[in-house]
Amino acid sequence: MSEPPAPRTKSGSKARDGLRSEGESNRSELRRMWQQAHLNDEILGLLREDENYFLHQSLSSPCLDVIAKCRGSYLENLEGKRILDFHGNSVHQVGFGHPKVVEAVRRQMRSLPFCPRRYTNQPAIQLAKKLAEISPGDLSKVLFAPGGSAAIGIALKLARMASGRFKTISMWDAFHGASLDAISVGGEALFRRDIGPLLPGSEHVPPPDPRNCPFECGSACNLKCADYLEYVLEKEGDVGAVVAETVRSTPYIPPRDYWMQVRRACDRHGALLILDEIPNCLGRTGKMFACEHYGVEPDMLVIGKGLGGGIFPMAALMARRELDIAPDFALGHYTHEKNPVGCAAALAAIEVVETEGLAERAAELGAHALERLSDLAARHTVIADVRGIGLLLGVEVEAPGGDSALLAERILYAALEQGLSFKISMGTILTLTPPLTITAEELDSAIDILDAAITVTA
Ligand SMILES: Cc1ncc(COP(=O)(O)O)c(C=O)c1O
Repeated sequence: MSEPPAPRTKSGSKARDGLRSEGESNRSELRRMWQQAHLNDEILGLLREDENYFLHQSLSSPCLDVIAKCRGSYLENLEGKRILDFHGNSVHQVGFGHPKVVEAVRRQMRSLPFCPRRYTNQPAIQLAKKLAEISPGDLSKVLFAPGGSAAIGIALKLARMASGRFKTISMWDAFHGASLDAISVGGEALFRRDIGPLLPGSEHVPPPDPRNCPFECGSACNLKCADYLEYVLEKEGDVGAVVAETVRSTPYIPPRDYWMQVRRACDRHGALLILDEIPNCLGRTGKMFACEHYGVEPDMLVIGKGLGGGIFPMAALMARRELDIAPDFALGHYTHEKNPVGCAAALAAIEVVETEGLAERAAELGAHALERLSDLAARHTVIADVRGIGLLLGVEVEAPGGDSALLAERILYAALEQGLSFKISMGTILTLTPPLTITAEELDSAIDILDAAITVTA
């Protein structure tokens, strides 16, 4: 089993802007100026219509641009401008519009486009069986849901039923979805502030993030955070589940021993371990599932996003067989629970990941990208840290004595000008999640664009 790569850190920890957790501001002056300079009147008119009809919220409406097409590694806006998409909302492991997924969806829509509850269907059974086969350990019972937040909700309910306890421990800064139950276990102010009471018993601990560690571990995690997690398990005494992202998409990448230690702590204190790999499943980290890097088997594993092949909203909760304990309780009950089109898309996506060797590809291309990003870090003083696992990569920027979040946004808009899109996490981390089907040339050209964008900005 490979060792997860150690973070390459240039400087120490710093405070984070909790309100900039999942992306750049959609109401900044920088964005407005970029739009005026780069978008034509038709697009600006459509953006105004979008603003007029959609409820405004952070990270979406008002929107950046109008997309007309997507294919492979690229989005295309309404006037035909191509954008290499290193964001993709983490749905594009197999690229956009993979022909095999499109064909599977088409075929399925022609025969059985929907399946009402109380019936099952062949694609749903095949998908459940396939996930049981490829998942680590004994995660051989599943429930599907139309989105990751819903699947997290099912996991929380099942954990209560199975443990007879309602408390959870999860991580500050984590994201598990936008619904009330998911934000209760999530740890981001953007989703939690000013909303009133959340689920009782939702305890939080610091994540394994050496750059922002309250235990001041410095550049390398010394597992004090895992010790503290066990301390809370012991003090509370009746925690039903620990819920966490195996690898946070920011990314922060725990050291190998972290999950081993947490797994042992859960076992000692009778808590279930629920790992959320909604954005990072199906090969992104260089393994089919991120927990395979750590040699741990969770009691429940939640996946989603790219599971629907970048076409259909699909998520799944996979649980150990012995957790099948609630036959008279509605754990999920979602209308599209066994949607045959979604299941056909997922089966096709998994087949593509397997036959095109996308996990191996992610490991290989990710190592190359990390090397190139480290080279950038050596040349650009504003890069404080680069880290990655497979094709989940982060470049953290710091403006010495200045506004680091503003610097990150300026780099983003300079990159967008050259046709590269990515996400900014936690205000200052340029988060790069390309499709796993990306060519080496596309990957190199994206890093060249990033290099140039930092050069003109910093
Ligand atoms: C780690 C993680 N968990 C849960 C979710 C929620 O998934 P969905 O948006 O499909 O509800 C997300 C979405 O970004 C995520 O990144």
